Amino acid sequence: MEVRIQKGDITTAAAEAVVLFHFEREEKLLQSAAAVNGITGSIVSRVIEAGDFYGEHGENMLLFTKGSAAIERILLMGLGKREKFTAQTLREAMAQALKTLRDGRQPRAVLPIPLDSEFPLGVGETVEACVLGGVLGLYQFTELRTKDRDKIKDFDSLTIISSRKTKSLARGVERAKAVAAAIYLARDLVTLPSNQATPTFLAKRAEEIAAKAGMSFKLIGEPEAKKLGMGAFLAVAKGSEEPGLIVVMDYHPSGTEVPPVVLVGKGITFDSGGISIKPAKDMDKMKHDMAGSAAVIGTMQAIATLHLPVRVVALIPFAENLPSGKAYKPGDVIRSLSGLNIEVINTDAEGRMILADALTYAERYKPQAIIDLATLTGACIVALGDNVAGLLSNNDELQARLQAAADESGESVWPLPLWDSYFEAMKSDVADLKNVVGRKAGAITGAIFLKQFVPEGVPWAHLDIAGCAWEDKGSPVVPKGASGMGVHLLTRLLQSWKPLAKNSR
Ligand code: BES
Ligand code: MN
Ligand code: ZN
Repeated sequence: MEVRIQKGDITTAAAEAVVLFHFEREEKLLQSAAAVNGITGSIVSRVIEAGDFYGEHGENMLLFTKGSAAIERILLMGLGKREKFTAQTLREAMAQALKTLRDGRQPRAVLPIPLDSEFPLGVGETVEACVLGGVLGLYQFTELRTKDRDKIKDFDSLTIISSRKTKSLARGVERAKAVAAAIYLARDLVTLPSNQATPTFLAKRAEEIAAKAGMSFKLIGEPEAKKLGMGAFLAVAKGSEEPGLIVVMDYHPSGTEVPPVVLVGKGITFDSGGISIKPAKDMDKMKHDMAGSAAVIGTMQAIATLHLPVRVVALIPFAENLPSGKAYKPGDVIRSLSGLNIEVINTDAEGRMILADALTYAERYKPQAIIDLATLTGACIVALGDNVAGLLSNNDELQARLQAAADESGESVWPLPLWDSYFEAMKSDVADLKNVVGRKAGAITGAIFLKQFVPEGVPWAHLDIAGCAWEDKGSPVVPKGASGMGVHLLTRLLQSWKPLAKNSR
């Protein structure tokens, strides 16, 4: 879809369709609605006065104007109650608006944005939310369909109409486009099945993105991983014929001669459970076990597109977790890169194995912070449900920033405790630690395991996205399937990044 900004006046602009908003049960129309109302025989105020349209959140109504105006159709979108309004309200309203138009074979629309914003957001955030929401709702994955391709409906263009083309408008659109493209990328990578999205394939895509953005790129293959001593990563990777790979992307804009923020993403391209094999039901979903890596790759693309002035290194271990004659087994003791020996209790706790070595490897970058994203535990879904990521951190300031970024981005994260007392049960009789300790508090113990491998003194946060990486039902901005969870919130976090206070815990 194309998005452009056009200087103009909605009362004289010609358009096939205009999107207008209305707050629930308010008599007064918003500026643009009032303006269009004035040139269309009061069609908008009449449907509201007649009680045909309340303006509830998600409510919409398509109206045809009577030939007189240069605007042919009006799509009225309800915003719900004014007190409940947030940027997410606009994202969802626009997502529903553009989907309604697309599905009605109306692929072009205009959206008037007044420069004196009527929303408590400012014009830049307003346009950003509208464009981002609209684009995200339209996402569809059609690459692998061969039949009836002519029946695929697309939306073509959204034109923002404003009395002047201002910098904040342009920047808002730019941010929305960059984040939307990055989320589309992440969704595509997660949706691609594991026979296509192998470690090699994903590493190649990461390399292309790095090259386009002028980032440096490095691959650690299995031979090098062996030399380095990445036993935990290799233990998982060796069960598959597909070679494991660790991707290193380094976004290093000039003027940022400081330690990087390191992003780590779990890149299990398929999680069968390994020798501790999973039940067949829903095992197909385990192609999405690389959603953390996709979010990191998407974020790297977004921050480079937006030229954010912050150094960021991405570390992504890719591997496939399969049972085979070479697979690691319960009871095995594996020496990790950190030197800690891990007793494997369950080969299905593979994410923490590959992440352990990636976290240790991060030390060589002397990071100012490490953030990892992983579809780590089913227990996180039990604790927080399908749409909320678990947030576990050793640093309150980093945790608060992540939560603030998620509040802005419309993604949900919620803190879980990371007390050392949880580690006691993880001690092994034959080695240093076990990779699993029973079912209780599984999301927390998963994070506690990772914590053992975080370089000393480095602020670190772990997002368990097991529930929210995949949307089962479909919501306004997240169609059924891969969500792209994490891209928007990380991009927001990095957009306003500043060093963490020295003594923050
Ligand atoms: N990839 C899974 C976690 C998962 C489950 C992600 C459901 C998305 C949806 C992870 O590797 C796993 O298998 N975790 C185990 C851990 C257990 C063995 C301690 C789990 O959650 O059962
Ligand atoms: Mn697993
Ligand atoms: Zn997994």
